[in-house]
Amino acid sequence: MTNLQFKRHRRLRQSATMRAMVKETYLHKEDFIYPIFVMEGENIKNPVDSMPGVYQFSIDRLKEEMDEVVALGIPSVILFGLPAEKDEVGSQAYHNHGIVQEATRFVKKNYPDVVVIADTCLCEYTSHGHCGVVSEDERILNDPSLDLLAKTAVSQAEAGADIIAPSNMMDGFVAAIRKGLDEAGFEDVPIMSYAVKYASAYYGPFREAADGAPKFGDRKTYQMDPSNRMEAMREASSDIEEGADFLIVKPALSYLDIVRDVRNNYDVPVVAYNVSGEYAMVKAAALNGWMDEKKTVLETLLSMKRAGADLIMTYHAKDAARWLEEK
Ligand code: PBG
Ligand code: ZN
Repeated sequence: MTNLQFKRHRRLRQSATMRAMVKETYLHKEDFIYPIFVMEGENIKNPVDSMPGVYQFSIDRLKEEMDEVVALGIPSVILFGLPAEKDEVGSQAYHNHGIVQEATRFVKKNYPDVVVIADTCLCEYTSHGHCGVVSEDERILNDPSLDLLAKTAVSQAEAGADIIAPSNMMDGFVAAIRKGLDEAGFEDVPIMSYAVKYASAYYGPFREAADGAPKFGDRKTYQMDPSNRMEAMREASSDIEEGADFLIVKPALSYLDIVRDVRNNYDVPVVAYNVSGEYAMVKAAALNGWMDEKKTVLETLLSMKRAGADLIMTYHAKDAARWLEEK
């Protein structure tokens, strides 16, 4: 090899302008979806201890959060609900005046341009904390869960949700929800499927934030084994066949190879979910002065775009939108 060849990479890195010209990946505030936890009750803004900067809001205080989101130009929020009462079958999930339904009405009335995504699951609403219906002998019952998930999606669409995001991982959930939505006249409401969702330790802080930890067992019978890559393709193709309009890969950071696989194999928008544990790790290090928060977060989010994500669900969205504006 000649000397010339050794030096050629650096030629394109010489100046800020040159680097800008050859930049391959960009992060935009339009890429972000901001998760919000809404809670029944009044005058609530509860900090989530393991997620500094994240709160649970009652609807009467949601304005504080939504005003910021809109001022920063973040186009979309995903709503997670904490009901006042839980039961075996999660009936508050599909109640017409459930917490996510009411929060959706509030946001769509006051911020009509914001795209509201409703998380469609039962785990925050069931007394046992599982994402579906459970039998006497503590097995997750797939098909009976599907009816309730479809009912939940329809009630969310009736409340004005722009996108339905089912996160339960029951088999056939996309088809069941698509059918439910179509029959109720919501043919135009897209489904953003948590198609590829691993059974992950990175959901730890979320389970505090959404009060949705399973009371017995774990989610390994319905969420994916972190060892598996081909299985992710099977999950993605069944969801596409069933009518998913977006595919979510979750968590994001430890699964960027999967984000790339999904991007390469499917032509729908791909969403990376930068989950609660990923947020907590960076926050903890930053609060200790061990890492530069701004640089770390922007690099992390950029890596998700580079891996092929079109959109990123992230608790860092507000900070990142602010930092992108500064640059
Ligand atoms: C529940 C749900 C979880 C998350 C989103 N929806 C947790 C779980 O499956 O236990 C995790 C999100 C996060 O960690 O930020 N269906
Ligand atoms: Zn769930």
